[in-house]
Amino acid sequence: MTLDLYKYVASVPDFPEKGVIFRDILPLMANGAAFKQATDELCEYAKDKKVDMVVGPEARGFIVGCPIARELQVGFAPARKKGKLPRKAISATYDLEYGEATLQMEADSIKPGQRVLVVDDLLATGGTISATIKMIEELGGIVVGCAFLIELKDLHGREKIKDYDMKALMEF
Ligand code: PRP
Ligand code: ADE
Repeated sequence: MTLDLYKYVASVPDFPEKGVIFRDILPLMANGAAFKQATDELCEYAKDKKVDMVVGPEARGFIVGCPIARELQVGFAPARKKGKLPRKAISATYDLEYGEATLQMEADSIKPGQRVLVVDDLLATGGTISATIKMIEELGGIVVGCAFLIELKDLHGREKIKDYDMKALMEF
């Protein structure tokens, strides 16, 4: 049976600030069948891309990215929020739908020539994914696809990553 994944996304008005509708994926994660279906569908998207590594930005990119890396039997490299990584790291700063942030990756977490799938729960303005792609490419990785549960169409994040292949399971 195929589930309607939209039923597992909670829409919360005015969070974290007025005017933003927060799309909360915790109900999807809390349901084993829905979580499995969603990650399986993103694996299906990635399966012919010869992926060597999955990269996901903190924090929700870890939740969606790790089961996909495991299923594809490849490694996972996190893009972490600033100040969390103990070894040599590279950084990228970006604007969010709300606020600004810096992400970092360990300098040896992607090897030159590795084929990388970037995974996050949601594409909004595209700032997070663009910063993540910038770091992967700085390390010599090749971004072969970007996989999301959700795309927020009105924020046009897709335009920021128009040079890359992408897949989103749901649109709002
Ligand atoms: C959210 C979401 C994406 C990003 C999308 O993460 O999980 O990573 O925003 O927005 P953008 O396309 O406008 O960059 P957030 O930075 O809120 O961090 P969290 O996962 O730790 O909650
Ligand atoms: N990240 C950026 N915008 C978001 C939104 N509207 N809902 C959930 N996560 C987000």
